[in-house]
Amino acid sequence: MSPKTPKDSCTIITDLVLPSETNPIGNMFGGELLARMDRAASIAARRHSRRIVVTASVNHVAFNKMIPLGSVVTVEARVSRAFTSSMEIFLDVWIEDRESGLKSKANEAIYTFVAVDEMGQPVKVPPLTPETDLEKERYEAALRRKQLSLVLAGKMKPENATELKALFLR
Ligand SMILES: CC(C)(COP(=O)(O)OP(=O)(O)OC[C@H]1O[C@@H](n2cnc3c(N)ncnc32)[C@H](O)[C@@H]1OP(=O)(O)O)[C@@H](O)C(=O)NCCC(=O)NCCS
Repeated sequence: MSPKTPKDSCTIITDLVLPSETNPIGNMFGGELLARMDRAASIAARRHSRRIVVTASVNHVAFNKMIPLGSVVTVEARVSRAFTSSMEIFLDVWIEDRESGLKSKANEAIYTFVAVDEMGQPVKVPPLTPETDLEKERYEAALRRKQLSLVLAGKMKPENATELKALFLR
């Protein structure tokens, strides 16, 4: 399979925050943002693999900024690393200032998707070649995050998490 770049899977979804998507103090529900990020990540994973993809885990979400009612929210998703059947998707969330149009980073998240066949069995995905410095940084750290996610899910023994251990033994 020929390699792809993060640009190939880049998925951008822009939408408003409506009243039914907010909490009692007028800010966007976390669950609404999670759903928008899951959709964008799913499209990015599909663009990279050209297969059916399922969410395997949500590895990290940081709700750093409140997102007020009426905000224009942009979710950007890109594959940050591909393994055998799984793909790490990095999401950056931006909000747009109404008057200046300037975008500021509101949140970020990291999801793992797995490509599967019609029977739900994992299938191979193309490798990923990072291009920019940021893409290379995210690519390098992805194996560590995969190991942490597998350890927390009880699917990997901590003693086998070599990349994670290296972080503490430096
Ligand atoms: C995701 C799923 C296909 C993985 O199946 P599995 O039996 O664990 O398969 P495997 O052990 O072969 O793992 C497949 C890949 O997923 C990765 N994976 C599985 N669980 C993971 C986790 N918690 N975190 C990170 N990666 C994970 C494995 O590392 C492996 O990656 P690789 O092939 O790139 O090395 C299966 O658990 C599933 O179908 N889950 C339900 C998905 C779903 O319905 N999502 C929507 C929720 S509403």
